[in-house]
Amino acid sequence: MVKAVVAGASGGIGQPLSLLLKACPLVDKLALYDVVNTPGVAADLSHISSVAQIEGFLPADDGLKKAFTGADIVVIPAGIPRKPGMTRDDLFKINAGIVKGLIEGVAQFCPDAYVLVISNPVNSTVPIAAEVLKKANKFNPQKLFGVTTLDVVRAETFVQGITGEKDPAKTVIPVIGGHSGETIVPLFSQAKPAVNIPADKLDALTNRVQFGGDEVVKAKDGAGSATLSMAYAGFRFAEKLLKAANGESGVIEPTFVYLPGVPGGDAIAKETGLEYFSVPVELGKEGAKQAHNPIPSANDYEKKLLQACYDGLKGNISKGVEFVANPP
Ligand code: NAI
Repeated sequence: MVKAVVAGASGGIGQPLSLLLKACPLVDKLALYDVVNTPGVAADLSHISSVAQIEGFLPADDGLKKAFTGADIVVIPAGIPRKPGMTRDDLFKINAGIVKGLIEGVAQFCPDAYVLVISNPVNSTVPIAAEVLKKANKFNPQKLFGVTTLDVVRAETFVQGITGEKDPAKTVIPVIGGHSGETIVPLFSQAKPAVNIPADKLDALTNRVQFGGDEVVKAKDGAGSATLSMAYAGFRFAEKLLKAANGESGVIEPTFVYLPGVPGGDAIAKETGLEYFSVPVELGKEGAKQAHNPIPSANDYEKKLLQACYDGLKGNISKGVEFVANPP
């Protein structure tokens, strides 16, 4: 019996993500939570003839409590998206408070759930989530995940333009670091099967993975950022986690975690000087079962990228920690 919650379910990401979860046979119960429109979205999806029983909740009448109680997995795409000219960090002011409030709900009503944070800036909202849970004495680092899967999905897709491989998802590419601009570090040298990227194409390819989100923001021209590809990516991560929780072994996906609390994470924290970082993580019933460290095998080109990543991430992380320690 698996109960899933989408918080921010009426939004651009929330609706297609809720659709994918409603259609997923691993989900028995689906609760949609948002500050607007969930009755309509839930009524619409409820006509789909799949296993999951679905209900929509608004803040009134204890909606948060009803939506979150008994949840096994909470996926959070609540918050404002970027418009042209904005960085993910520009979203901090509004989204930090939204994530804080929702995580307080997790701490109170479903502290044992896996929590998947999509709301940007992920580099800061995940530390916010951790700090809120710590304060409530409910922090289980193995169950808190920043969703960086869209960066992985983009790397798989864009590299296909060079390799010509028919199914892009068959190439496994570790994308590590954070989730914004130069904190995103694709390790093409560790792709499996190996890919041969001509030296004169590597810069452009790397840059496209780091700033691919901008292409969508620009093309949408004021109507928001990636929603459909993000819903796909968020669902891919959630589905992998649910499969691993069901006993499937060898499920590995990069995700942004609190390193000191995940087996194998300490060495990576030491090497990077950071407590939060995205690395390939083996998933299991306990959540993040084992963090893998691809950094020692990175080549010189990638090591240079990593240096810029560390510098950027450091500030993003402390901004999140600070937000909870000294609320504005
Ligand atoms: P959207 O504006 O279409 O939807 C956001 C939804 O959150 C709205 O329905 C809104 O009513 C809801 N919401 C606001 N405050 C809430 C609260 N306190 N509780 C529950 N729901 C609340 O935005 P979109 O495009 O769906 O993006 C959502 C977030 O995801 C943004 O922060 C965006 O930057 C981020 N994002 C993250 C990506 C990633 O790779 N992790 C990729 C793309 C977007």
